[in-house]
Amino acid sequence: VWICGHSRKRRKGEPPLITGWLPFIGVTLDYVSNPLGFLRETQKKYGNVFTCKIAGKYFTFVTDPFSFSIVMRQSKNLDFQKFAVGFSQRVFGHADFNSSLFSESYREVHSIFRQTLQGLSLQQLTETMLGNLQMVLERGLPYEHDWLEEGLQSFTNRIMFEAGFLTLFGKDVGFLQADGMSGTRICMQKAVQDFLAFDRAFPLLAAGVPIGLCAEAWQAREALAEELLHDKLHHRNCISDLIQRRMDAFDCMHLDETGKARTHVCMLWASQANTLPAAFWSLYYTLRSVDAFTAACTEINRVLSGQLINNQDQTICLSREQLDSMAVLESIIEEALRLSSASIMIRVASDDFTLTLDSGQTADVRKGDYIALYPQFIHLDPEIYPDPTEFKYNRFLDEKGQRKSNFFKNERRLKHFLLPFGSGASECPGRFFAVNEIKQFLALTLWHYDLQLSDPDATLVPDSTRAGLGILPPSRDVLLRYRRKTNTTTE
Ligand code: HEM
Repeated sequence: VWICGHSRKRRKGEPPLITGWLPFIGVTLDYVSNPLGFLRETQKKYGNVFTCKIAGKYFTFVTDPFSFSIVMRQSKNLDFQKFAVGFSQRVFGHADFNSSLFSESYREVHSIFRQTLQGLSLQQLTETMLGNLQMVLERGLPYEHDWLEEGLQSFTNRIMFEAGFLTLFGKDVGFLQADGMSGTRICMQKAVQDFLAFDRAFPLLAAGVPIGLCAEAWQAREALAEELLHDKLHHRNCISDLIQRRMDAFDCMHLDETGKARTHVCMLWASQANTLPAAFWSLYYTLRSVDAFTAACTEINRVLSGQLINNQDQTICLSREQLDSMAVLESIIEEALRLSSASIMIRVASDDFTLTLDSGQTADVRKGDYIALYPQFIHLDPEIYPDPTEFKYNRFLDEKGQRKSNFFKNERRLKHFLLPFGSGASECPGRFFAVNEIKQFLALTLWHYDLQLSDPDATLVPDSTRAGLGILPPSRDVLLRYRRKTNTTTE
């Protein structure tokens, strides 16, 4: 490998080193302009493991899907938390939880995720979300029969953001008492705008640009933090266990008030940044595909019809069993995630060590280097998923209409075939809630509304400038026409 003006040289036993021509920048530009294309090309030339210099750092990519679990099991040599917490501190401006002052108590804060996003707490959170989704939808549902027009992304963001926000952070008692719903809604419109303004800057922030240089993002983050100060949260009702327990823990850690609020902005971002585009793609693909639409409506009718006939206030209930039984919606969501997820899983080598891959090939890794897995390699592999760029609503259903989990490469069954939520130490603790809330969103919107895309044949591509950061949003919004169904009780 040609090395020009770079101090690092490939040592015996190390993977091929691709540094590009430019000092510091390395191959950043090739990587950023088309990550999957660049990695596929590099894999063809150098094999399943190689090291690239990107923005001054060395990333060793492992591209063989059978070696993914080997990397994820290496928690002794490969650290996730240090990297994640450092990144979060830089972007959200909260305290350094890696420091010896906080690291012990932060371990406990971290364990709150798993305790409050699974089991009974998950059930409670899911029920609250269903109530909030119905409240937000009900408010925006005109009874007249005219068609309304709105961007599908704007529609999804508006509904999911507000319902998700209220589910985690509770309802503002003051606003409700002062002037009914209107105040809450104005506040929510501002919050969603601030959230989106902050989120738009995320690719720059992730690339290392200090937030102080992104004025709009900085203002938006601080405005969100202002709303999430403990003083204000104390005036909200029905705060989730997750947020309540985090508030108590941060109070015990004696962080300053702004620092506490910024950790809540971080939680807000984690709970929404991927969910909003995932909900968008799930509804978009359902509306574009006649087969998906028909199968989804049949499933929703099976679960919901009958339940509203004697129900005066028309509230929909979806038990855990009913949600779990919606295999078609689950397959639609998984297929939408497969097509739109472009996350990167990163670990930091805490020591020099030798990684032995599934094939038996070894690769020496240096302390401080990053090991990176790029799940899109799996998600768009034609051997695993025939016609990989096509949406097939039943891709994750077997012949009996149940969840399918056997996918193969080289005639070997894959343990990891779908990784939008990461895996191992970095696996998303909110994954069950995320799927539940998107299922609820699909069920309620398809049940209550007639929905049509204004131009169903127009192609829409994901915004790849966000590659590496999770679920890609669409590159533009698409026009949606919708109206309330005349009589949903007799569907
Ligand atoms: C972390 C995906 C929704 C809470 C992650 C990670 C991924 C992910 C890939 C790992 C990030 C990394 O490796 O650095 C998703 C997707 C979602 C979703 C695709 C929706 C479709 C949610 C929701 C919540 C949530 C709804 C909470 C209510 C978190 C938290 C972390 C995380 C707290 C950090 C975990 C840690 O530091 O150990 N998510 N997520 N996520 N997610 Fe999600």
